[in-house]
Amino acid sequence: MIKKFEFQFESFADANALKKEDLELLMAARNATKTAFAPYSNFKVGAAARLNTGEIIIGSNQESASYPVGICAERTLLNSIGSQYTDKSIKSLAVSYDPVGKPSNEPLSPCGMCRQSILDFENRYQAPIKIILGGLEGEVMIFETASNLLPFGFNGSILKGLK
Ligand code: THU
Repeated sequence: MIKKFEFQFESFADANALKKEDLELLMAARNATKTAFAPYSNFKVGAAARLNTGEIIIGSNQESASYPVGICAERTLLNSIGSQYTDKSIKSLAVSYDPVGKPSNEPLSPCGMCRQSILDFENRYQAPIKIILGGLEGEVMIFETASNLLPFGFNGSILKGLK
């Protein structure tokens, strides 16, 4: 038997076409690139999440002199929400980037580790997280749920049967 997996996503020519709430979140992510600490890659990433309360929280990549110790913007943001905004779910999450002096005109595709972390939050609160991806200008992509970014992702349910 052959099975098929597919999903749809929205593509906008630029941020001006977004709904007000989505534009506000993308702008927060774009702004958050300014808080990045990225002296090694010069690739500043900003992430912003809207909680179920409507609050917007931001995060950015924080690099380390010992390169692998650095952390992506998305996980900086999620760890901050998990520890400081306990019990609040995430409605939507935007990611943008500033490659300092180079073009930022297409959506950034989040790394695999961050996709897992976002999915973990969806599972934790049993609520889909809308993903908004865009550079400082140009196309913006919107996914209705983080699970689209990580099809067949590991959700821990199999661990329960191992006790
Ligand atoms: N980075 C992020 O912050 N998020 C991603 O989704 C991809 C990569 C960061 C990690 C590193 O500081 C820099 O971008 C270059 O890889």
